[in-house]
Amino acid sequence: MAADDYIIYTDGACSGNPGPGGWGAVIMHGSDLQEISGSADKTTNQRMELQAAVEALRMVPPGSNVRLHSDSAYLVNCFNQGWMNNWQRNGWQTSKKQPVENRDLWQQLLELSEKNKVEWVKVKGHSNDQLNDRCDQLAREAICSGEKLKSGDINSETEVGLQCPEIISRKTRRLGVLTGGGDCPGLNAVIRAVVKGATYNYDTDVVGFNNGFKGLVENDAALISDLAVSGILNRGGTILGTSNRDNPFDFRPGGSDYKNTGEDRSADALANLDQWGIEALVVIGGDGSLLLAHRFSELGVPILGIPKTIDNDLPATDVTFGFDSAVTTATEAIDKIHTTAESHHRVMVVEVMGRYAGWIALQAGMAGGGDIILIPELPFEYPVIIDKIMERRRRGKKFSIIVAAEGAHPAGEEPVYQEKGEIKRLGGIGDLVAGEIEKRTEMESRATVLGHLQRGGSPTSYDRVLATRFGVKAVELFQAGQYDQMVCLRGNQIESVPLAEAVKGTKRVDPDSEQVKAAIAVGTSFGCRLGENC
Ligand code: F6P
Repeated sequence: MAADDYIIYTDGACSGNPGPGGWGAVIMHGSDLQEISGSADKTTNQRMELQAAVEALRMVPPGSNVRLHSDSAYLVNCFNQGWMNNWQRNGWQTSKKQPVENRDLWQQLLELSEKNKVEWVKVKGHSNDQLNDRCDQLAREAICSGEKLKSGDINSETEVGLQCPEIISRKTRRLGVLTGGGDCPGLNAVIRAVVKGATYNYDTDVVGFNNGFKGLVENDAALISDLAVSGILNRGGTILGTSNRDNPFDFRPGGSDYKNTGEDRSADALANLDQWGIEALVVIGGDGSLLLAHRFSELGVPILGIPKTIDNDLPATDVTFGFDSAVTTATEAIDKIHTTAESHHRVMVVEVMGRYAGWIALQAGMAGGGDIILIPELPFEYPVIIDKIMERRRRGKKFSIIVAAEGAHPAGEEPVYQEKGEIKRLGGIGDLVAGEIEKRTEMESRATVLGHLQRGGSPTSYDRVLATRFGVKAVELFQAGQYDQMVCLRGNQIESVPLAEAVKGTKRVDPDSEQVKAAIAVGTSFGCRLGENC
């Protein structure tokens, strides 16, 4: 499938003619699958068929190749047999000189179809085609969720034989989900686990809010079917999108890094949860998002937190998902940097992420055989680093690898930030260390900043499994009615802790830990004097 290829299924349904109507569409682009739907009062089935096609085509960027499947012969034939051309020629009149019904929608369709290369395909209604059936279901759901619908409006004798709720496979309960903060590998695996876990086991629909808390405030949300999460287990990023700058309590459209410049939109978020009939909200996020989640739980929203961050700095869980993938990426990079270090007899500094915790540097540094590991928890001294490099040279090792956490800093100094206006972001320690080494020795030194590479790509198998276990546990807590909890890993057990406890403090590397001691035992330096400041 080419990048500009889209496959669309559409369907419309109506409980009477005219009556409450609904439409649904599924749009497929590569492995992305989007579902949309809507409803209208006192309308006709044909209008809903056309509306579905209009709305779906609106989602497609102009210039795309589109294959649009519909069970409406009228719609498909209109394009395939050129009826619309005749109508236009006759001033939007039929051959019987009658005004063309639904002219507004036909005109919109014509305009949209001219922007793309559309192939119209007639499919059988109520077939065994999963996507086609899903559209039908979306259209029916839309009718039943229409605000104006009362049971008396439903006419079981209509062409679609619609009855609410028997025919509708709407689940009895609803769970919301959003991903907040920086992305990391494994987010999709959690979403999949939440959707499949809820749908298959607990008669629960899942509504996904797009782009973190922004979607919650702006009601940018949609039902996520189990079909929509099929094939995403191994995909990096998040199908829901995320944001680390949209605080509903201090909200500015367009986002902001600046504090206290926005308005409190938490009431909108609450209203949106209410409108969707959501019983509990799963927030997949790091400390920032979980803190916001906690504020919502204080406002009475039943919240379930799932700990995500490559930094692994959340105290209430042994491990966060995403960490193992980031460490794996960093380790592979260190392995590659080794060859240049060795060939050029250089000191290569690899700067990794992790904010104020040294977990990624420690783990990847050990796995990649780093000679010197610099972490924020153990402030370093340049003379100690130089001594280590020189000692290696004396032993015939003419190169050294330094793995520096972005939050690492010399003793008595602050971490290094990249200042962009009022925004301060950690970064730059690698260059600083490499520069000092060149000044203090005759050796060449270079720095490589791994940056967001560590947040990208496919999750490791460990993270896929952890993410799945976390997602399933969150759904189990929902079923048990245990809220304001964050799921966590303790030893090898998935457990949960109160959210209030989970958002307290930062988990940092313990300099006296067995792991640090093991690194020291195999000759790794932390750039500090053993027994003194180390
Ligand atoms: O918390 C994850 C993280 O990747 C940190 O390791 C890093 O300091 C920060 O996010 C970078 O954030 P941003 O992508 O907003 O620059």
